[in-house]
Amino acid sequence: VSLIKIGLLGFGTVNSGVYEGITDTLSYLEQLLGDSVSVEKILIRDKQKYSNNSNDELLTDVADDFFKHEYHVVFEAMGGEQPALDYVTFLLTKRIPVITANKELIAKHGSKLESLAKKYETFIGFEATVAGGIPIINTLKSQLQWTSVEKVSGILNGTTNYIITSLQEGNRTFESVLREAQELGFAEADPTSDVEGYDALYKLQILCRLCFGSWPTPEQFQRTGMSHLKSWHFKAGDYFQLKLKYIAEAYYDGHEVKGSISPTFVEEKHPLSSIINENNGIFLQGDWLGNFVASGPGAGKKPTATSMIEDYLHQLQNKTFKQTPIKRKVVNHVDTKEYLVL
Ligand code: HSE
Repeated sequence: VSLIKIGLLGFGTVNSGVYEGITDTLSYLEQLLGDSVSVEKILIRDKQKYSNNSNDELLTDVADDFFKHEYHVVFEAMGGEQPALDYVTFLLTKRIPVITANKELIAKHGSKLESLAKKYETFIGFEATVAGGIPIINTLKSQLQWTSVEKVSGILNGTTNYIITSLQEGNRTFESVLREAQELGFAEADPTSDVEGYDALYKLQILCRLCFGSWPTPEQFQRTGMSHLKSWHFKAGDYFQLKLKYIAEAYYDGHEVKGSISPTFVEEKHPLSSIINENNGIFLQGDWLGNFVASGPGAGKKPTATSMIEDYLHQLQNKTFKQTPIKRKVVNHVDTKEYLVL
């Protein structure tokens, strides 16, 4: 193609960032891709909310109107299971590549969507579903293929890390910090998903598929929400020189992959203990790998949009659909009892 036609499903924090990223760097992006680029259409929920928007002619709230256009790639950042699942399924069966930031969609339907993409020789990129701007998914897919990961743990939710950091510093209430995280664009539309650990669970499930080779069910993990935290936990942490963090971890126990998402005490020297504010951290451990840590912004417009755009470039260059699905050797030599989970 000489003109890459792009569609955007959703126009919230993430896709407005994708749009700005594309338009602000258009000539450089075109140089990288070797083709011209144009955003053809943006599907939003309610056009009334966007009156006086400078992209008025691109916006539609009618799905039929969006889908009658031709696309070479669609960026999906609507959030939620439906209608995203129907839309993404439709696009893949039409052989249109999809790049998504939708963790719930991928955690619940990743298996089916990966198979569909393979069947129709297209691709579904989901780098942006885990840890905002940290390029962990494609690193695991492409650069840690032979290396076995025996345990994965991380701070996978920016909102709760932001809350826990502020509470640890003192003088703030849970509600006021949560409101601030919402205003900064870190929290989900319904922050229950952040605070009760569903968001981190989705991300952990996705990481498990990459680290251990198959898609786990939510029943394999124990989930404890932030509401479990009491002020005495912080005092006890200070006393014992332990940091409280909202940690998601998973490992293979000899029979199956299992893990937890929970407020957790970690030692101050632990690599995840110094990750603050809305940042995320991912800690991979393995016999040959040793300890691998990646940290960076876990939420927010620019980092997540960066992941979406990079994911598209990565998928184009690697044509992931041609690779055999990852089959991992699952073993465990590492310490699975390093955390004091609440
Ligand atoms: N609500 C999510 C978080 C956004 O706070 O991490 C990024 O996935």
